[in-house]
Amino acid sequence: MSILSGKHIILGICGGIAAYKSVSLLRLFIKAGAEVQVVITPAGKEFITPVTLSALSHKPVVSEFFTANTGEWHSHVDLGLWADCMVIAPATASTIGKMAHGIADNMLVTTYLSAKSPVFVAPAMDLDMMKHPSTQANLELLSSYGNYIIEPETGYLASGLEGKGRMEEPEKIVEYLEAYFSSRCDMEGKKVLITAGPTHEKIDPVRFIGNYSSGKMGYALAEECANRGAEVTLVSGPVNLRAENPAIRTVNVESAREMLSACQEVFPDVDVAVMCAAVADYAPAHPQDHKIKREHQDVPTIELIKNPDIAATLGKEKKQYQILVGFALETDNEFSNATEKLQRKNLDMIVLNSMRDKGAGFGTDTNKVSIFDRSGNRIDFPLKSKKDVATDIVNEIVSRL
Ligand code: CTP
Repeated sequence: MSILSGKHIILGICGGIAAYKSVSLLRLFIKAGAEVQVVITPAGKEFITPVTLSALSHKPVVSEFFTANTGEWHSHVDLGLWADCMVIAPATASTIGKMAHGIADNMLVTTYLSAKSPVFVAPAMDLDMMKHPSTQANLELLSSYGNYIIEPETGYLASGLEGKGRMEEPEKIVEYLEAYFSSRCDMEGKKVLITAGPTHEKIDPVRFIGNYSSGKMGYALAEECANRGAEVTLVSGPVNLRAENPAIRTVNVESAREMLSACQEVFPDVDVAVMCAAVADYAPAHPQDHKIKREHQDVPTIELIKNPDIAATLGKEKKQYQILVGFALETDNEFSNATEKLQRKNLDMIVLNSMRDKGAGFGTDTNKVSIFDRSGNRIDFPLKSKKDVATDIVNEIVSRL
């Protein structure tokens, strides 16, 4: 059975000669057991009729924002949520340009902008259009958004010329998707615990000690593990985020002590634990039940006590087969601090990010990390989106499972 069986695929078709190949692609998707919704641009309909496509996909083809005679609205937002992936084949230079720059003047581009799933783009055009710096720059932009470009082949083109621009063959596109989804199932059956966000340590009912952690890295890791088939428990400090994948169970906590007990409850059953939370090291020794008032007090002194070290506690409880991953956010002596933490907390891997690197650390959408393990291996990654950093980290975890 194909791994595409049961997958929801949006097949976007643009106006190019290669649109005839989309029919074969659609047939192959259906044969593999996928459910396909075709979205075609107005120009696409000049090359291939919606009747053929709806007969093969068993669904009305979507092209306009609404059906003219009934007024029925076609929600690109719902479609974007429904899809497990979106494949644009053929993708013309015009549509690639619109996608790159958010020019949402048709249903295909609005659907693309709403899609939360991975997007695969199979360009097809004449060789000079393909080579043009504008097309190349737009494709690079799409790659930078995390879209996958299925490179066109070199060969005979409809123009009569020969060169790079032939849309990849439908069988190859299907293989590409199958390889993508297979690699994404490498955490099937695994249980993962992830901590994320800051902790808030109560001073009084309206004040706390906290930090700038946004939780974005931990949530990206949770999504990555769940997308790859894992059952994830996300123990989250107070953040403005929500987990999307239904395989993620979120346990909301406030303080380090609450985070520790939530982690200890699930840790014995998990295969992997990733300590991504920025846990406050200290908490007020005597949190007040009533608001500390300004008038009646001298300047208060807040006595602090040490919080438990969650990673180190789990490091002591760890069984042979469990993988424990920590983070180290450092401002100086990055390498020695990270390796010292790896040993002290009995971690298997530590992910270092330095506050000195632009684009790394708290609150940003990007991160730049190095990964160290107990065998002394070190991998340095360039600056990437937190989503891509999550992919790199999970790849390293999977290779050690
Ligand atoms: N950590 C934890 N519990 C704590 C403190 C840290 O689980 N009370 C975890 C973090 O989630 C991270 C790793 O330990 O995975 C390192 O956190 P970091 O704050 O860099 O280290 P600390 O041990 O707090 O050391 P320091 O603040 O001195 O750098």
